[in-house]
Amino acid sequence: MDNMVNIMSHPLITHKLSIMRDKNTSVKDFRECAHEVALLIGYEATKDLKLEDYDVETPIRKTVGKRIERQVALVPILRAGLGMVDAIMDLIPASKIGHIGLYRNEETLEPVEYYCKLPTDISERQVLVLDPMLATGGSAVAAINFIKNRGAKNIKFVCIIAAPEGIKTLREAHPDVEIFCGALDESLNENGYIVPGLGDAGDRLFGTL
Ligand code: PRP
Ligand code: URA
Repeated sequence: MDNMVNIMSHPLITHKLSIMRDKNTSVKDFRECAHEVALLIGYEATKDLKLEDYDVETPIRKTVGKRIERQVALVPILRAGLGMVDAIMDLIPASKIGHIGLYRNEETLEPVEYYCKLPTDISERQVLVLDPMLATGGSAVAAINFIKNRGAKNIKFVCIIAAPEGIKTLREAHPDVEIFCGALDESLNENGYIVPGLGDAGDRLFGTL
């Protein structure tokens, strides 16, 4: 694993992720854990945002404040990426949000695009692409292709669980994109699901099992 791949080892992430993995966890609890895990990973993924100086007057005297220099855009991959948006918005409320709709063809496992709407100034922004699952990597690579075609230059990929295959595919296709994930799992099964994983993230978030 190179230094563009960040696998979280924080005990809070591992604890909440284990609740998400449990097939008996309710939709409500799954969604809450996804929110909390996304917030913790998002904190890490934003650790190198650049700051700029500005004037601040405290009740005591003038000083130099610091604020995030580059604006942020969050791009959840529909549907499951939606489960991570509110958490990162809590961290960076001024973020703009783009949406990319992709689903995996269940037979070919190839991503199929059905929607793409991004902020017009995406090329100026730090983009965080959000999707809980990096499995074969096909969806992440396709989403980042679309975003780059619209001019985005600074992109990070934030996920909750990754398979080694997905990391490899994404690293090869987009070596400039840093990856942040809550756990690196063992493998993929014959249906392209992450093992041990947590099942279908979209179904578990939205109760469509
Ligand atoms: C899931 C997941 C990713 C994709 C990962 O979405 O949220 O987008 O699969 O798989 P990949 O790395 O092999 O491309 P899915 O296609 O099930 O759509 P959904 O979010 O609408 O459920
Ligand atoms: N998509 C999911 O939702 N889960 C997986 O394990 C793989 C792809």
